[in-house]
Amino acid sequence: MYLIDEYVDIKNHCTFKVGGQFRYYTEISTTDDLREVYKFAMENNLPVHILGGGSNMVFPDGIFNALVVHILVPGFEIINDTGTYTDIKIGAGENWDAVVERTVAMNLSGIEALSAIPGTVGATPVQNVGAYGQEIKDTLQGVEVFDTTRQKFKILNNTECKFAYRDSIFKHEGKGKYVITSVTLRMLKDIPIIPNYPAVKKYFEEKGITNPSLQQIREAIIFIRGNKLPDPKKIANVGSFFKNPIVPNLIAENLKKQYPHLITFPVDNDRAKIPAGWLMETAGLKGKSFGAISTYENNALVLVNNGTATRADVIKTRDEIQKTVFELFGINLETEPEFV
Ligand code: EPU
Repeated sequence: MYLIDEYVDIKNHCTFKVGGQFRYYTEISTTDDLREVYKFAMENNLPVHILGGGSNMVFPDGIFNALVVHILVPGFEIINDTGTYTDIKIGAGENWDAVVERTVAMNLSGIEALSAIPGTVGATPVQNVGAYGQEIKDTLQGVEVFDTTRQKFKILNNTECKFAYRDSIFKHEGKGKYVITSVTLRMLKDIPIIPNYPAVKKYFEEKGITNPSLQQIREAIIFIRGNKLPDPKKIANVGSFFKNPIVPNLIAENLKKQYPHLITFPVDNDRAKIPAGWLMETAGLKGKSFGAISTYENNALVLVNNGTATRADVIKTRDEIQKTVFELFGINLETEPEFV
């Protein structure tokens, strides 16, 4: 059974601590409640907004006239176990990092490089969460969704999720249509390998470790992230604020000629990813104050709320950064968090 609260402070539900009030807010722990919740929204002519951990959202400043549904659906069930892999069905409301910790303790690999990412399991497919060489799409077998148009549950397989860098069907035609209720991951029993990522390789080289355990890889990621990303419990932020732009190889090569230290990441035969944090730092935007918002002193890509920021401040800062980077490099930065 669920209760509906009114005029709920958004700042308590988003890690950026930006926003006014949710007109209606409810928490659901069973998937059956979804039908009821959508019925209430329909009767009251309200849009529904699904909330996971609120770690990648920028909400409006005033009253957000919607029914916000915080998904707390639990679950961690082994549904298939073979000599080489284990399939685990996980409730959308589970805390993501607690799941990573648990699978690492079970000696199962596939998501260890995704350690210490804030938020819930159900949010991970939406932006195809990725870090240190792993993406959720590499492990995900299927997603159980509630189809709000047909009022039915169904399974989407990996291909049907249309995953790409920080992208999926849930950001496009599936937006508002599908509510993710569980995620099934295929976890491998392979010998762990060091993630193919410069900062992780350097960490193990310095420690002289060539065959780390999954637990050691998890510790490495937590350490590296801790140096680069502010803890949202202490400093309000939403992680990377911009996506790393994907550009034709020719543009990446020209930039490298000008800036030999630039590290780029191949996407396919024709395109490469340029680190947005590097573009920003090179444009003099690291540790810079824009008033209520600053770029983080250790990582230009993270915008931090100095305490009083409104959405209008966020937008003003976003526009200034995009303008500065475009004027210097001719590259347009796209925002990463969702502007609701
Ligand atoms: N860099 C700079 N200056 C900066 C920040 C970064 O020069 O201020 C350079 C770094 O030196 C490095 C390159 O940019 O050469 C890449 O930096 P980093 O390894 O820190 O990763 P990122 O590209 O900035 C992405 C993800 C992160 C993820 C890390 C690790 C995006 C938008 N962000 O960041 O994801 O943790 O890789 O894999 O793809 C998030 O989505 O919220 C997030 C934190």
